[in-house]
Amino acid sequence: MQDKIVNLLKRRSGYVSGEEIAHHLGISRQGLWKHIQDLRNSGYDIVAIPHLGYELVSLPDRLFASEITSGLNTKFIGRKIYYFDHLSSTMEVALQLGLKNAPEGTLVLAEGQSKGRGRLGRSWISPKFKGIYLSVILRPKISPNAIPVITLLSAVSICEAIHNITGLSCQIKWPNDVLIANKKVSGVLTELNAEADQTSFVIIGAGINVNNDKKDLIASATSLKEHKKSPIDRVKLLQEVLARLEHNYIIFQKGSSAPVLERWREFSSTLNRRIRINSYRLHIEGQAIDIDSDGALMIREDSGIIRKVTAGDITHCR
Ligand code: BTN
Repeated sequence: MQDKIVNLLKRRSGYVSGEEIAHHLGISRQGLWKHIQDLRNSGYDIVAIPHLGYELVSLPDRLFASEITSGLNTKFIGRKIYYFDHLSSTMEVALQLGLKNAPEGTLVLAEGQSKGRGRLGRSWISPKFKGIYLSVILRPKISPNAIPVITLLSAVSICEAIHNITGLSCQIKWPNDVLIANKKVSGVLTELNAEADQTSFVIIGAGINVNNDKKDLIASATSLKEHKKSPIDRVKLLQEVLARLEHNYIIFQKGSSAPVLERWREFSSTLNRRIRINSYRLHIEGQAIDIDSDGALMIREDSGIIRKVTAGDITHCR
């Protein structure tokens, strides 16, 4: 009911009489008043003037499912949303939902996380109401070794969305660190649930530093607000991330990873640079020459040998 009240007030400029709203929605004026109080408690600024009615003055800076859904340009990603004020990690909830057969595109959102997970056992600092912390369940009909491309695809989608909403240009450091001016603004974590050679589902986890103040960020990180010098509408940005993700994913599912890899190359800050792979098993240094069709990074060592690396962390040497 509250969504309906908000939508009605959004569609109309100026005051709408309580009588009209109540009649339209088939509720009593007393019932309407109670819903208005609840909406105000959730952060909707609704002015009420006797004999005139109600006016929606501003929306809360919250990623409420109703706000995301209205104006969302997707067919299945984000059509089912689980919204939380606070979670340990959106990945945990998404895993449980995935195991219970949640449909493809199911989205888990949290305003803040206490144990946000990053790649390679790192943590993702997730202050409340500042960023976007999401997990999406996908059920791709591909073999598990094509999964790295979905990770690249997600990073590409985030870069596109950031550019479309803020005008800022991002780069991708292999595999999926999204950078602005060499500092990390977003990261993607992919977790796979597979049996034998069949992918059951994939969880794409993404964190974006949106309205974080510079003083609250670690030295290697940045936020969109730091570059735009003004707060960014998290709802609009999230809607665009979901739309770009679905667009790129549909192309990929049709059988071609080429378009997304081409976009990845355009955003890459790694290709054509000298890099070092840091992992406990691998110590490779050389020139990053390309990305393979399965998402692996191709490195030409000084000896001329070309190596393919599918996981790990890299350092840009110069
Ligand atoms: C990385 O760059 O290391 C990946 C960071 C991924 C962070 C996101 S925030 C939402 C989702 N939930 C988590 O616990 N992690 C991912």
